[in-house]
Amino acid sequence: MLLPDGFLTCVRCEDGLKREEGQNPIPGEGITEAEVMLIGESPGAEEMKTGRPFQGKAGENLNGFLASVGLDRNKMYVINTTRCRPYKEKERVLKDGTVRVTKSNKPPSPHAIKSCAVWLDYELKIVNPTLIVTLGSTPLKRLIGEQSISEVHGTLLTLPIQEPGEGEDSRTLYFSEKKYHIFPLYHPAAIIYRQELKQTFEQDLKKLRETIEQLNLRSVLL
Ligand code: URA
Repeated sequence: MLLPDGFLTCVRCEDGLKREEGQNPIPGEGITEAEVMLIGESPGAEEMKTGRPFQGKAGENLNGFLASVGLDRNKMYVINTTRCRPYKEKERVLKDGTVRVTKSNKPPSPHAIKSCAVWLDYELKIVNPTLIVTLGSTPLKRLIGEQSISEVHGTLLTLPIQEPGEGEDSRTLYFSEKKYHIFPLYHPAAIIYRQELKQTFEQDLKKLRETIEQLNLRSVLL
């Protein structure tokens, strides 16, 4: 995918400003003709290191869940709601008195989400997927506004999505005229720390597989 002007040097939000030396914003990954686009939340440390979305444990977790219902991540387009890692820093004083700073992930701020909307939309328009699968509430809210994931997970929605305005107005989101097919899933990482969601998530994955068959998107099957 040809990256848009200004993408690699983007500092439109606080997470871009805090990018480490030598690291770039992380674009989506996959074939440009993909029929299904998966949208996660934000890159973590591993993604910032490798320059690719859903790497390390998060990637294995996602790939495994998809494979369990016969879906192939490599045949989909995978992207995040935001392009840089949102993190907080914590200082720890070690026994010998030295101070160690550790970074831990946090959800992207509303400002980061709106600032990054232009980049997500750039790739969304080019890939033009038939089905968008949102992972967790961050991409769901970014696309369709205030909507509780607990009410819509595992169902096919056909709705307008929020898109950024032009130029100075590019952090304001407006509803599209076009309607998109959106299938909301819980975030795969949430299943690890909320075991009570596991069964629901597995049922939702089966429904996703059925939806993909009904929409005849056979290119993403394993
Ligand atoms: N890694 C990603 O790239 N996105 C997520 O949402 C979580 C982990």
